[in-house]
Amino acid sequence: MAANRLIVHGGAGDWDGFDEAEVLKGVRAAAEAGWSVLRAGGTALDAVEKATNVLEDDPLFDAGFGSFVNEVGEVEMDALMTDGATIKFGAVAAVRRVRYPISLARLVMTRTQNCFFVADGADQLAAELGMPLVANITMVTPKEIDQFRQRQALHATRNEKGTGTVGAVALDGSGNLASATSTGGIPDKRKGRVGDSPIFGAGGYADNQFGAASATGQGENIMRFFLCQRVVEAITAGVDATAAAKSGLDYLAARIPDPEAGIIVIGADGSIGAAHTTKAMPVAWVTADGDIQVAMRPAR
Ligand code: GLY
Repeated sequence: MAANRLIVHGGAGDWDGFDEAEVLKGVRAAAEAGWSVLRAGGTALDAVEKATNVLEDDPLFDAGFGSFVNEVGEVEMDALMTDGATIKFGAVAAVRRVRYPISLARLVMTRTQNCFFVADGADQLAAELGMPLVANITMVTPKEIDQFRQRQALHATRNEKGTGTVGAVALDGSGNLASATSTGGIPDKRKGRVGDSPIFGAGGYADNQFGAASATGQGENIMRFFLCQRVVEAITAGVDATAAAKSGLDYLAARIPDPEAGIIVIGADGSIGAAHTTKAMPVAWVTADGDIQVAMRPAR
């Protein structure tokens, strides 16, 4: 029987001006939720969904409630669930009326014959599959909408790299790996713009033969290099998840100046890794003896 493993991230960025204790409390809560699933014998898929739902609910993080608004003051969210046992995925992009985009991504994978739904069609699918639809404005925090209105009044644009996409990766007792990635995208993005997060191989990847990963950061950089697939398939004898994560980001940094990216990884061997090129990337993971550890700046 494989040992359970779990790691979550709250997004690569500078996190300037945030209360780090609160941020770390948020990622810890997500890891606790995912870990309680694994400890009870649940699957890696259940664990990453549960952990990501916690981050989607927490307004500190750029996913679900608390997502950045786009240029017209609306939330458009993207998510990807990957299953290392079947090499299947479910993805959604530019969804506007779903509280938990990662849960919709999972339903795309398990309840449809397709892989990827976007925009109104994705919201409509959610309703058909029994998910409640919410008003877009209920996904926006009062702080985010106030700041948007102030910028509009001043004709100002936002220039920040504060937070980012969230995600979770898990290995369960049956040796199955899964990843979940959920995001509101980048601040002030163009309406209809989609980043790396819902793209299989870029924003997330899982293959039981190698490992699983979830990425965060500037999607335009990550998706061009299929960061998650590149890192996961680098996990071989002698290259654990930490080494693969680091070499994947070193590769990105060698090809693109300041790629603004981060990644969390679990190897099929149970190794856990995290790396980022940004100033910070809050993570929480579970050690071999079941303790939950947190870090604002894991290995860079
Ligand atoms: N990594 C999130 C995005 O670029 O949308």
